[in-house]
Amino acid sequence: MIQLIRGFKDILPGESELWQHIETVARNLFEDFGFSEIRLPILERTELFKRSIGIDTDIVEKEMYTFPDRKGDLITLRPEATASVVRSYIQHKLYAADPVQKLYTIGPMFRRERPQKGRYRQFYQINAEVFGVDSPLMDAQMIFMLTAFFSRLCVTDVTAHINSLGCPECRPDFKAALSDLLKSKKDQLCENCTRRSKKNPLRVLDCKATSCREAMADAPSIIDYLCPDCASHFETVKATLEKQNVPFIINKQLVRGLDYYTRTTFEIQTGSLGAQNAVAGGGRYDGLVKALGGPEQPAIGFAIGFDRLVEITDLKDAGLENRPDIFIAALGEQSISAASTWAGDLSLSGIKTEMDMSGRSLKSLMKRADRLNARHVLIVGENEIKEGAVTLRNMETKEQLSISIKGPIDDLVTNIKEKFGS
Ligand code: HAM
Repeated sequence: MIQLIRGFKDILPGESELWQHIETVARNLFEDFGFSEIRLPILERTELFKRSIGIDTDIVEKEMYTFPDRKGDLITLRPEATASVVRSYIQHKLYAADPVQKLYTIGPMFRRERPQKGRYRQFYQINAEVFGVDSPLMDAQMIFMLTAFFSRLCVTDVTAHINSLGCPECRPDFKAALSDLLKSKKDQLCENCTRRSKKNPLRVLDCKATSCREAMADAPSIIDYLCPDCASHFETVKATLEKQNVPFIINKQLVRGLDYYTRTTFEIQTGSLGAQNAVAGGGRYDGLVKALGGPEQPAIGFAIGFDRLVEITDLKDAGLENRPDIFIAALGEQSISAASTWAGDLSLSGIKTEMDMSGRSLKSLMKRADRLNARHVLIVGENEIKEGAVTLRNMETKEQLSISIKGPIDDLVTNIKEKFGS
């Protein structure tokens, strides 16, 4: 038997209802905050990710699914969506209509990481990105919207961590201080970090290797190096979050794994997922639009890890299961034939209908109705057809009602709807 590729997974009925529910909550909330959906391709030119995420990052160095297409062009299954959103914003000159664009996108991403709980090679993200606003009030609003999203899903074991990574003006001083420390600790660094430490010392700060973590325990904090503009930007983000009653922790270690960030960065972390504790992450990337060939436009965004969110969302009581309102148990050829046309009309009228066409006995049909957890069973036997009335059985109360089938089908649908109403 051919099996799934390692790190990939199927989302089966029973679970897909929760995915749909989460997606609906995200769409409704983001649209209320003025966001519009953008749908993007899954394949992009490899260059796009190299130039945005950065060539010294884990994602670009080791995790991308990159291959030449038949003409030899290097293409990559997107490891994240921000680069594509920026590409699209520039390519379609979305800024010309209005530099402020609020976009969201939902879909699969691909990273060839070592699979484990909460970490997959194909995973899903819900992204929101805002272009054209540099005000720190927008940073606070994004974090506010993100935390509201978790509240709407009743996910409570989450904490917002925030940090500032400064800007091209203040970061060089911080990098210089970090490089000095790295030089003195060079024997403790892992192979990757030894190589990266000269070009991109910031990456050492989020290396997971124990020796690097120990070496970085007393690393300087970028917050102490912020220029006056970045410092005041960060102060306003914090003050606004406080005003909006959004609890947060300042996490000076939060450098994020992608190179494009400037100023505010944030993560939503949970205690319920073990090592893979980030359920969402994001931040400002004021230089990226320009770096990818667009106009100078600030931007900020985040991505929610959909798979991880599903693992910590408990909506057992939300009535999400996809169960039939009516299961039609038709007995005998004539009844099956008549009822099969009703089944379509009932479904069209918005009543979730399932019909068994196998011609099995009433006992086995009732068993199947039970298995599907049907709310009602419509019993249609040869006698019922002759007498012009079918039986609707409520599977919870066991109450039975007789419904006339003498009139046109609309009458049957209306009658059933009325019975549901009662
Ligand atoms: P990221 O931190 O790489 O950021 O990913 C965001 C979220 O995606 C993570 O917090 C995690 O929940 C989920 N995630 C990442 N990798 C995996 C995986 N292998 N399996 C399951 N879930 C995973 C970004 O991707 C940025 N583009 C976020 C952003 C948007 N920044 C600005 N705008």
